[in-house]
Amino acid sequence: MNLSKIEDITSLHRKICSCKLCDLSSGRTKAVPGEGPCPAKIMLIGEAPGREEDLTGRPFVGRAGRLLDRALFDAGLRRSEVFITSVVKCRPPKNRKPKHSEIAACHPYLEAQMKMLNPEVVCLMGNVAAQAILGMQGIAALRGRILHDRCLVTYHPAAVLRNKNLMDDFVSDLKKASGPY
Ligand code: URA
Repeated sequence: MNLSKIEDITSLHRKICSCKLCDLSSGRTKAVPGEGPCPAKIMLIGEAPGREEDLTGRPFVGRAGRLLDRALFDAGLRRSEVFITSVVKCRPPKNRKPKHSEIAACHPYLEAQMKMLNPEVVCLMGNVAAQAILGMQGIAALRGRILHDRCLVTYHPAAVLRNKNLMDDFVSDLKKASGPY
């Protein structure tokens, strides 16, 4: 896919919204390109849209999203000052993990977003995001440090929902993302 002629994030997101590169497109209500300022100091990357995201076309608006909002607030950040997206932009059926082929098909969009946003820090929330960008998994070992210059691995908000004991570390990772570096 050649995205080199697409120069602004609005055009890129329009392209994502009409994308048919993988089978997830046939099951979606709306694609979820992501939202936030461009350029952005902080970019947050999750896994894939869920039910409420599919219905609204907005990232992290379900239960995990509300937890993310609270964690951002506790870290001294406002949702409106970070760019939020996911590795794949369409909801997988029954919220299953995205397949390798779906992640690969969607990857040029994520790369183009990273290029346009030019963030100082890319927060990789969960193993799917860590694997997609760093080729590594294992949150417990990777989290909380800046890797490859600007990547910070942390928990996926849904994991924090399942285990509230992770909230303090999640907030401290988001604080680290807000700098100073
Ligand atoms: N989980 C994600 O990874 N992304 C969303 O947009 C919502 C839930």
